[in-house]
Amino acid sequence: MSQAGTTPGGIKPGDIKPVGILISGRGSNMAALIEAAKQPGYPARIAVVIANRADAEGLTIAQAAGIATEVIPSKGKERAAFDAELDAALKRHGIEIVCLAGFMRLLTPGFVEGWQGRMINIHPSLLPAFKGTRVHERVIESGTRITGCSVHFVVPEMDEGPVILQAEVPVPDGVTPEQLADLVLLEEHKLYPQALRLLAEGKLRVEDNQVQVQ
Ligand code: GAR
Repeated sequence: MSQAGTTPGGIKPGDIKPVGILISGRGSNMAALIEAAKQPGYPARIAVVIANRADAEGLTIAQAAGIATEVIPSKGKERAAFDAELDAALKRHGIEIVCLAGFMRLLTPGFVEGWQGRMINIHPSLLPAFKGTRVHERVIESGTRITGCSVHFVVPEMDEGPVILQAEVPVPDGVTPEQLADLVLLEEHKLYPQALRLLAEGKLRVEDNQVQVQ
């Protein structure tokens, strides 16, 4: 991940960090980050929202908030070519931190390594449990009584990487996957801005795959 005991990706305390958010759809986590970044003293500003689909609903929300948006279609494009375009767009906007927010496209190891320690993701389970898709269906099928959400550093393997913060959500009896998704989402919207704050403030250290909050 990063050198033992150093700030991931060289994020230093101080300035307000320009953030790029990557989305594929609804963008409710993106909206939560946009709202958080409006608060006085928040250490990050959302400089661009990039979608890999032109029909991502989150684009409209970002535009209404006065945030620059870009669409880089990924369909039918080679992974390396798409990631090169994405990387160029992020650099053009002077981005220092990348937040994946419901971004449903695997990224190449080269791209991920280039953003190592500066790219985070939110996933609707208590990682390392229930990686991948159909999370809430699988949680209910498993009989697990506690689920939740995780914000983690992105590494080349999907839904892996050192966990920054997690929040627990009890699984109510008889809940449907859709209801459980909504319950978890409420916690996601609180957790993601907290994790971005810690990263932007340079308060995270990664050692032996473990995140320490200073
Ligand atoms: C969120 O629940 C997020 O945790 C999940 O997709 C949803 C996106 O919703 N992400 C993953 O499953 C990543 N593996 P949103 O577009 O409203 O933020």
